[in-house]
Amino acid sequence: MEIHQLFFYLVALSYFFASIEGLSRSDFPDGFVFGAGSSAYQELHTRMAKGLAYGILSLRHTQEDIALMKEIGLDSFRFSISWSRVLPSIQPCITLFHWDTPQALEDEYDGFLSIDIVNDYHDYAEFCFKEFGDRVKLWTTFNEPNTFSSEGYATGTIAPGRCSSYVGNCTFGNSGIEPYMVAHHILLSHATAVKLYREKYQASQMGEIGITISTFWMVPKYQTIASSKAASRALDFAFGWFAHPVTYGDYPKSMRALVGNRLPNFTVIQSKMVKGSLDFLGVNYYTARYADDSTSSSSVHLSYTTDSHVNLTRFSDVNNNSWTIQDALNDRLRLKYHQLHLSSRLKATRARINVKGYYVWSFLDDFEWESGYTYRFGINYIYYKNGLTRYMKHTAL
Ligand SMILES: *[C@@H]1O[C@H](CO)[C@@H](O)[C@H](O)[C@H]1NC(C)=O
Ligand SMILES: *[C@@H]1O[C@H](CO)[C@@H](O)[C@H](O)[C@H]1NC(C)=O
Ligand SMILES: *[C@@H]1O[C@H](CO)[C@@H](O)[C@H](O)[C@H]1NC(C)=O
Ligand SMILES: *[C@@H]1O[C@H](CO)[C@@H](O)[C@H](O)[C@H]1NC(C)=O
Repeated sequence: MEIHQLFFYLVALSYFFASIEGLSRSDFPDGFVFGAGSSAYQELHTRMAKGLAYGILSLRHTQEDIALMKEIGLDSFRFSISWSRVLPSIQPCITLFHWDTPQALEDEYDGFLSIDIVNDYHDYAEFCFKEFGDRVKLWTTFNEPNTFSSEGYATGTIAPGRCSSYVGNCTFGNSGIEPYMVAHHILLSHATAVKLYREKYQASQMGEIGITISTFWMVPKYQTIASSKAASRALDFAFGWFAHPVTYGDYPKSMRALVGNRLPNFTVIQSKMVKGSLDFLGVNYYTARYADDSTSSSSVHLSYTTDSHVNLTRFSDVNNNSWTIQDALNDRLRLKYHQLHLSSRLKATRARINVKGYYVWSFLDDFEWESGYTYRFGINYIYYKNGLTRYMKHTAL
């Protein structure tokens, strides 16, 4: 153990809650899970970038990380199994798909653009239920399928980087059609995996299966009807795109009206299979956006990014890679965010809203997709220059 590390461990005087005014673990109901998240690609990338083989060294880090989780007082750790790879753990909450489509399926039939993915995803899910289902009690079929569909196929900013030339700098793609096809195939893949789990594995393995959708909270920019309608449409296009079908068996009405024939239909059988296909709903939320009516929209250059006719403007984000390690460890704004958040969460629990757990993103600083290592979301700091040594930030303490 490094000297600094020992130092930071020594200042780890108390649990997460001791520093949060008036909040303690016992305020939450029995069984409420506290955890932190990660994803296979993002963590592995951090290790590979250091030229570390996925072997002995990463095993050392795995054991170290589990000890760190226990020290922080987490019950559960949310991570994804990479479809193209497979690790041991603490109460696992497994994500089956976190954006890393196998290259072979991308080459064979364009991955999620093809309905063929549904059967392959089914087989992959079955393999995981069979192999790990005796130990895994929480399965997430897809992590942020809405981000994957829109950024992979409308803006082209994440893999596979497809978009229309009028939206971004992509070689291939159609931002007005592909995101909707991909989302449709994801919903069918999800529902097929849930059906399989329920029919064949759930009774004996006694786990739960769900999906995790991300969304900003959309705040009307002005106190006008137009702004509040825009906020509601923006929620439909981000969250409702997946939440509405898994709840009611079809896309939100606003999407049907605005996207028209570009939005695929569910057959009656598919709709029944998709409806209710979840034991829990995971929601990833990071920040909020102001929403207002969009002033410009093209009827020629159709795109998922403009179909909602909403103009979203951002709040500023608090993450900065040029901070010194002391600045980063003293992450007071993040601490305040979690404080305020957990007190609201407690209010929801007291109002008998059935919230089962809270996973912080992320457990470690990670490789943030197209932004590389420029953001530090971890509650634990990774010193990239020094053998990936971990330091707990104030939020972890
Ligand atoms: C677009 O992509 C090409 C090929 O990757 C690259 O050379 C070019 O600089 C990019 N243009 C912009 C404006 O990002
Ligand atoms: C979906 O069904 C509606 C109503 O039957 C039809 O008008 C529309 O063309 C269909 N859309 C697609 C993409 O097939
Ligand atoms: C969105 O809002 C910003 C700031 O209010 C404005 O500058 C921009 O032109 C708007 N864009 C669209 C597409 O409405
Ligand atoms: C990041 O922090 C540095 C040093 O505190 C500051 O100069 C810079 O403006 C910050 N960047 C952003 C995007 O906040």
